[in-house]
Amino acid sequence: MTIELQRPVGAPIVIDDLERLSFRVDRRAYTDDDLAAREMTRIFDRCWLYVGHESEVPGPGSYVARDVGGRPVFMARGSDGVIRVFANSCTHRGALICSQPAGQARSFRCPYHDWTFSNQGDLVGVPIPDGYGPGFRKADFGLAQHRSDSYRGFVFVTFDPEQPRTLTEYLAGATEYLDLIDDQSEVGMEVIQGAQLHGARANWKLMMENSVDIYHFRALHKRYVSYMESLGSVPPRRRGGFGCALGLGHGANELPPAAARPLAYWTPMFGAEVRPRIEATAARFVDRFGAERAERITGTNRAVLIFPNLMIIDAIAITIRKIDPIGAGQMAITSVALAPGTRIRTSGNSARVTT
Ligand code: FES
Repeated sequence: MTIELQRPVGAPIVIDDLERLSFRVDRRAYTDDDLAAREMTRIFDRCWLYVGHESEVPGPGSYVARDVGGRPVFMARGSDGVIRVFANSCTHRGALICSQPAGQARSFRCPYHDWTFSNQGDLVGVPIPDGYGPGFRKADFGLAQHRSDSYRGFVFVTFDPEQPRTLTEYLAGATEYLDLIDDQSEVGMEVIQGAQLHGARANWKLMMENSVDIYHFRALHKRYVSYMESLGSVPPRRRGGFGCALGLGHGANELPPAAARPLAYWTPMFGAEVRPRIEATAARFVDRFGAERAERITGTNRAVLIFPNLMIIDAIAITIRKIDPIGAGQMAITSVALAPGTRIRTSGNSARVTT
């Protein structure tokens, strides 16, 4: 039997009924191609979007190339130490300049006609320069640089030159959660080399929503839960947990860990031999931040959604997920691991050590 759901033309996509504590979303939100196209122009072309982490471009000349919000970009640390985000498109005839996902370069040469750009974006080399008219000036053809900024090592870009908010204003309450993550290292956090690239035939919003949906955890991840129990995980040392809105579409949840956190929360699953080291680290956190904040940093799991394309799962490991919609019914997901760093982070031209 076929059941056709009749919906009145123009019916709302979202019904948020605070009086009845009811929040309902029409499934067109996940399948409608016109809506997906409008999301790209009204959300991804306007918001601040996550690009990557400063530690992915640790030294002058290092770069990473990737798609963000449907556009090819590359993030490069110039020889001057400054991180910039460029359109990955030659200013001559638009060929892709950076074809490697990551590397080290003093300059970038376009493969089509060999125009060459410095790692600060300046056009520095043009074959047969006499072939251009007298008005041609290399200074007019530097790489297109997008507006970018970083907060606690997380680099964001906006494709809207008139985006009215600074990055910090845009992040709103999410800054508190990025602080809780970055404070886990005395020298800054680092992305561990290597990434998992996934594709899914599903709408991008499903991944974002799922990442803060803790309701599903024990039902869907039974095998993981029993595996952790077999390793000696213990019940949470405290109960509780909450979810919260952080403003401008961002949100988070916090839960006591059911397993352990390798940074500074020891449980038997790690083995007795590492207990002194982990507990010494925990004591240093109490010295630095006080008992209450140290417990929140090191003894609490959290998931943070930074609208529209960044999820951070901070539990027994820290996973950064960058989401890229591909129409209504597909998405690309890039996952990397974040961990306490081993080198002093440089931001712009200055070195910073968190003490
Ligand atoms: S398109 Fe890049 S040099 Fe021509």
